[in-house]
Amino acid sequence: MAVPSFPFTQQTSEQPTRAESTTHQSNSTIHLAFRTAHEGHKPHAGLDPTRASTGVVWTSERAYEHGYLDSPETWSNLGQGAPEAEDSIPGSFPRPTSLPLPVSSREYGPTAGIKPLRAAVANLYNAHHRAGKESQYTWENVCIVPGGRAGLIRIAAVLGQAYLGFFVPDYTAYSEMLSLFRNFGTIPVPLEREDNYSIHSSLIASEIARGTSVILTSNPRNPTGRVTTNPELAKIQDICRERATLIMDEFYGGYNYTTDCDGTVISAADNICDVEKDDVLIVDGLTKRFRLPGWRVAWIVGPKAWIKALGSCGSYLDGGTNVPFQEAAVAMLDPPLVRNEMRALQRHFRDKRDYVIKRLRDMGFEIEERFVPNSTFYLWLDLRCLPEKINDGLNFFQACLEEKVIVVPGIFFDLNPSKRRDLFDSPCHHFVRLSYGPRMEILEKGLDGIERVLKR
Ligand SMILES: Cc1ncc(COP(=O)(O)O)c(C=O)c1O
Repeated sequence: MAVPSFPFTQQTSEQPTRAESTTHQSNSTIHLAFRTAHEGHKPHAGLDPTRASTGVVWTSERAYEHGYLDSPETWSNLGQGAPEAEDSIPGSFPRPTSLPLPVSSREYGPTAGIKPLRAAVANLYNAHHRAGKESQYTWENVCIVPGGRAGLIRIAAVLGQAYLGFFVPDYTAYSEMLSLFRNFGTIPVPLEREDNYSIHSSLIASEIARGTSVILTSNPRNPTGRVTTNPELAKIQDICRERATLIMDEFYGGYNYTTDCDGTVISAADNICDVEKDDVLIVDGLTKRFRLPGWRVAWIVGPKAWIKALGSCGSYLDGGTNVPFQEAAVAMLDPPLVRNEMRALQRHFRDKRDYVIKRLRDMGFEIEERFVPNSTFYLWLDLRCLPEKINDGLNFFQACLEEKVIVVPGIFFDLNPSKRRDLFDSPCHHFVRLSYGPRMEILEKGLDGIERVLKR
């Protein structure tokens, strides 16, 4: 029997071919045991597929197994965090249905975004959040990015050595984003149910006291649908001033139901004293509040030094936002138009929220008033009042799939970048996130499905 060849020995007719040697090894118990125990002998040696998928993608894949792709129109997807995109909301301006594509738009755009859009974003924040204040944003305080996630990844890429505090639960993609780079350490901070899962000043103060110098949070919060408003928000910013960088993910700032749907957008920009000195990075874009997730146009607003770095790192990370959509976005950011748009958005989504809450309460869900979402289009639904077989997020999700309804199991919002926590220890285990982003008829169908799950 010939000795198996190594790659650097010459192949002779007596030596086994690569295929023969593989066959021999695949019948050998010791070879199989070795391959199972050691990484590196994998068919796709360079691939780690666990790094590729977020929880929300996993839920879609389970839905595909239940036939979602064959007839999506018969399903209610209350899982994906997407607002309805049609032009059917009363009072909302119609979105463009075609775009000019001049030859100039074929060129690479600047990785910090085109100047007219940067200026339009600065102008919007000044008009809505900084009226009468001495310190104003300019185009140099704005970086345009190809979507919110790209923006957050750009921020993570340029962070220095620091402890970054994040909260549990929060937006699922933070988990992956926080484990991509090795330049900073991450500290999970659990939010308490008694606090309505809100961030508050004493929590932030104790984080800073233990050495955290970067704070990342969504506000309004995904998945709990709760927002921290002034005066508490201002107090948090006062505590962070000159001590910590505050990364405020305000993607749902437009979905605010705390001001009687008057079009007010919640933003940390209201409380910034000096736009250069207050180390606050605000992330938002067209995705949610302009209901254009497919356009991939978002922005980061902050001090110039940050914006310069964030613009530059686009040159190795993503190459920037596509130019025609940036050009189309400029006219949409006219401040009076936006105020009107936010008013229409808030009224419409508050009605949908009220409908969903009423249906769920009628079915027997116990939703205390203080947990009714005052922002976003999400409901963090507590399942503990249900029979044991469906009172955790994964089993409820599974039961919903059988009724063609998609929700997201709560554990995916238990950000766990270092994968150290056991599933059953998760504070999110008995929850699902339900999105009332879709159109009313989809919500109706989805709630009918959930009702059938409860009646089974
Ligand atoms: C809190 C939060 N931030 C950012 C994003 C990212 O949005 P985009 O689709 O523009 O990447 C989302 C999307 O769900 C979100 O929930």
